[in-house]
Amino acid sequence: MAIIHDDLGRRRFLSQAVMGFGLLFGMGTLALRFVQFLIPSPKPKRYEAVLIGSLSRVPVGEALSMDLSGQKIMVLRTDEEVLAFSRRCTDLGCLVSWSKEREQFLCPCHQGVFDKTGRNIAGPPPRPLDRFEVVTRGDQLYVNIQSS
Ligand code: FES
Repeated sequence: MAIIHDDLGRRRFLSQAVMGFGLLFGMGTLALRFVQFLIPSPKPKRYEAVLIGSLSRVPVGEALSMDLSGQKIMVLRTDEEVLAFSRRCTDLGCLVSWSKEREQFLCPCHQGVFDKTGRNIAGPPPRPLDRFEVVTRGDQLYVNIQSS
């Protein structure tokens, strides 16, 4: 009789130990995933330099529209520098255009106005135009575009 009880006790102990270990493993995995959800690891932003051509391609006071890697941008050459902006208006995303006479970016949708530095100066746009870094290597211009 005692041998039978010992065998049943050992089986019960082993069964509960396996279930307890599995439960602990499952709870630990769940807790780890929850912490990863709360504190996601930051993905580094990657940029690629896209060649847009020589400096002479953009006359002073003019802005050149182009589509780079799916981004609609406008490259503006002022007396001092070359600037690149997203053409997406920061209000509702309409495409802005450059007015050489007014030296401003104009949005046709709700009359949003941006100055030549991309700063929102009139209308509903809540913030300046998104700006891209322009790099000059020799005579060639490159725009740094965030790659996906
Ligand atoms: S979308 Fe440009 S002003 Fe509204």
